[in-house]
This record gives sequence, structure tokens and C-alpha cells, in this order.
Amino acid sequence: MNQGSDASDNSPSENTIEWHAGDMPYSTAFGDHYYSRTDGRAECAHVFVNGNDLLQRWSKQRRFTIGELGFGTGLNFVETWRQWQAAPGNKGNLHFVSFERFPLKAADMARALDAWPTLSALSDQLVSAWPDQPSQIVRIAFDENVSLEVHIGDALPSLQAWSGMADAWFLDGFSPARNSQMWSLELMSEIYQHTNAGGSFATYSAAGWVRRNLQAAGFIVEKRPGHTGKRDMSIGRRAR
Ligand SMILES: C[S@@+](CC[C@H](N)C(=O)[O-])C[C@H]1O[C@@H](n2cnc3c(N)ncnc32)[C@H](O)[C@@H]1O
Repeated sequence: MNQGSDASDNSPSENTIEWHAGDMPYSTAFGDHYYSRTDGRAECAHVFVNGNDLLQRWSKQRRFTIGELGFGTGLNFVETWRQWQAAPGNKGNLHFVSFERFPLKAADMARALDAWPTLSALSDQLVSAWPDQPSQIVRIAFDENVSLEVHIGDALPSLQAWSGMADAWFLDGFSPARNSQMWSLELMSEIYQHTNAGGSFATYSAAGWVRRNLQAAGFIVEKRPGHTGKRDMSIGRRAR
């Protein structure tokens, strides 16, 4: 497949979900699940937390900002928050910024997140703070050290308007084959421009055209072994 900067936009203009196996959200509009059917929490830990080397970096950096494409159920945020809390040492502040065009309802987030009882203390806080009608920028401070900011709308213009910088990115916008808009050269270039020197990204995708877009944007890109059943994933760094 050759989908570079001229990738045709195959993303739908509205979203609908259905539930597989009771608690697994599936987007009928995008034709994709929100996360691994094997274990979305384990996938998040492998791909995004370990792929960005977060445990090691948190121990050295007191203020840490994570950016994400695709907030979805909030699973990545909650699992990252859990790992951040459990990590040893004095960690300072965690700020998580996500970009989401089709925000889910709190009840749907709860239905999905209930699959992980180990997350319930944190997912309950997210679900109870999530607004009925999310719009513009949802800002939630969970305590003095952990804050969430979700930009509602198409990721590209939202990111262009965002003045912040992230230390690590979770690229989680559905499969590139099903949602090429979330992996375009234009968007990957915005991600690069919003990455601090020495910062990183991680994604489950190892698609050649996605890796080329990330390289063309400026990242030094590497392959790593993927989560269960996937041979490869991609990680990368913005040089200092
Ligand atoms: C794979 S899911 C994300 C899963 C999520 N990180 C989680 O923890 O549940 C992909 C998300 O990208 C969102 N999305 C798709 N196209 C988008 C776009 N152009 N801009 C912003 N968000 C988009 C979808 O609505 C969906 O929530």
C-alpha cells in the first residue's frame, strides 16, 4: 500500500459502536475494535507505556506530558495513570492530552472499562468526571499531580491550534488501513512539531507508509516486537 502525504481520506464523518463479547467496543463506522481483543490493558502497557520507555523516563523527569491521538474509552489514560501511580520514586506531575473526534458517552466508557477490575478505582473517577456533552476542550484535574485534557474534534485542526508540547505520544487512531486520516504526513508532522526534543512516539502499526510518514516528519523510527499476535510495532524519537 502506498499512502503518503496524498493518502485518500477514508474516515467516516460520524461514528457508531456496537459491543462484541459483552464489553468490547467495536466501531461499525471505522470497522475496527478500540483495542486488542486479547487484552487492551496489556496492549497499552506493551505498546504505549513500554514503547515510550515511560517507567524509566518518569523516574528522571518531574513534569511529564503525554499526547494521544484517539481518547476512545480512556483505557490508555487510566492504565497509564495506574502505572504512573505504581512506579517507584517521587514522580511530580503527569499531564495527559488527547485528541478525539467522536467522544464516547460516560456509560459506554464504563461498560468497556469495567472489564478491568484492577483499574476500577481510577476508571470510576474518569467516568464520574466525564461530561454529558463533551465539547471544545474537556479539562479534568484528578488531584494536584494528575490532569487530563481532551480536545474534542478532528485531530489535525485541534493539534494545529494546540500550543503545548508532549514528551511522549500514543498514536492510537484505529488501523491505518481503516482511518488513513489519523496517520497522514500532515498530521505526523504536527505530532513532531509538538514533541519536545528527546521525546518519543509509539504505535502498534508497522505499516510501511505510516513509518515513512513518521520518518518524513522528522522522527528516527525503529521496529519493535508487537503485542500478542503482531510481529512488529513502531517506536521513534525526536532527536535532541
Ligand atoms: C483505537 S480508538 C482509541 C482507543 C483509545 N485510546 C482507548 O484507550 O480506548 C481510535 C479513536 O480515534 C478516534 N478518531 C478517529 N478519527 C479521528 C480524527 N480524525 N480525529 C480525532 N479522533 C479520531 C475515534 O473516535 C476513536 O475513539
